[in-house]
Amino acid sequence: MSGTGTATSVRYRRFAEVDARGYSPQYDEWCTGVSDDDELLALLDTLPPARRQPVLFLGAVRFVGAPLGGYGAFRAFVVEHWQDIRHVMETRTTQTNEAGRCAVLLPSLAAISAREGRPLALIEVGASAGACLYPDRYAYAYSPGPSLEPEGGSPVPPLACSVAGDVPLPAALPPVAWRAGIDLNPLDARDDDDVRWLEALVWPEHTFRAERLRAALGVVRADPPLLVRGDLNEQVVPLVHRAPSDAVVVVFHSAVLAYLDADGRRRFRDTMLRLVSDRGRPVHWLSHEGYGTLDGVPGAMEKVPGEEDGRFVLQHNGRSVARTGPHGQSIEWL
Ligand SMILES: C[S@@+](CC[C@H](N)C(=O)[O-])C[C@H]1O[C@@H](n2cnc3c(N)ncnc32)[C@H](O)[C@@H]1O
Repeated sequence: MSGTGTATSVRYRRFAEVDARGYSPQYDEWCTGVSDDDELLALLDTLPPARRQPVLFLGAVRFVGAPLGGYGAFRAFVVEHWQDIRHVMETRTTQTNEAGRCAVLLPSLAAISAREGRPLALIEVGASAGACLYPDRYAYAYSPGPSLEPEGGSPVPPLACSVAGDVPLPAALPPVAWRAGIDLNPLDARDDDDVRWLEALVWPEHTFRAERLRAALGVVRADPPLLVRGDLNEQVVPLVHRAPSDAVVVVFHSAVLAYLDADGRRRFRDTMLRLVSDRGRPVHWLSHEGYGTLDGVPGAMEKVPGEEDGRFVLQHNGRSVARTGPHGQSIEWL
């Protein structure tokens, strides 16, 4: 039977046309090719549907060592190395870690610390290797707006972020007293294979993101955070209790809730709303997720059909405050 027209073929064509076109010509070409290639479609279809994801496949192919280039050489590589690629697709998940997202979290983090008059205790749920846990160690270039950097500079190239609307841009970086993360599978910035996997997940043309990732993982390695293995719904409350009492706790997440089913999202939302209104020790909650991922909270932006443009929504204690570029490249205050 021809694979063209099957669910996997449609998935790869859609990925090429909607996700990759104009953003990664290399992935556009490869996935367009796969969508018409019966032999490769048959290989992919030997995996369970959830493991046939284009991003997982592309990361695995590059992790195993495929050179960039035309479709012919790519398909020959996949056929020759299929057992290795398959093993990666069965054992790894997409865990892209993007330090650039700190640029859209920073205005809210700085405002929280200034308002409370205390340093931050950061808890990131779905932290991957933890590169987003160092907003105080990166340099920022807002445009229009200020450039900010930690005392002594940053080894990471400035995180560039274009600004629209009345974003409360800070004049200085907030102090961070403590940082911790939760992940189903925390990645280790000191482990060569984990670092290579994170690099393979950066799209080939995004060389500045690969450079930023390498530098950010250096920051993580120099002062590793506490990373707890487990489900965010099980681990978030115990971790809040471990935070130092003289700091203001901020629980945040970015590009994570899409991995949860509806029940998992509801549980997490209810837990966070409880933590936010806890009179004993209120926490702040910053959610940076795809449009419409987090709803059912007072002040959230309702999803309007036709208004999806790939941007994320930043929510503070449930209330929508900004639309953002998903990698932190832009912020528009609402
Ligand atoms: C796309 S990555 C984002 C990483 C990081 N937040 C960032 O923005 O760079 C999503 C992460 O969420 C983690 N994750 C997914 N579901 C989770 C769950 N139920 N509990 C904890 N972590 C989870 C994944 O393992 C992965 O590392």
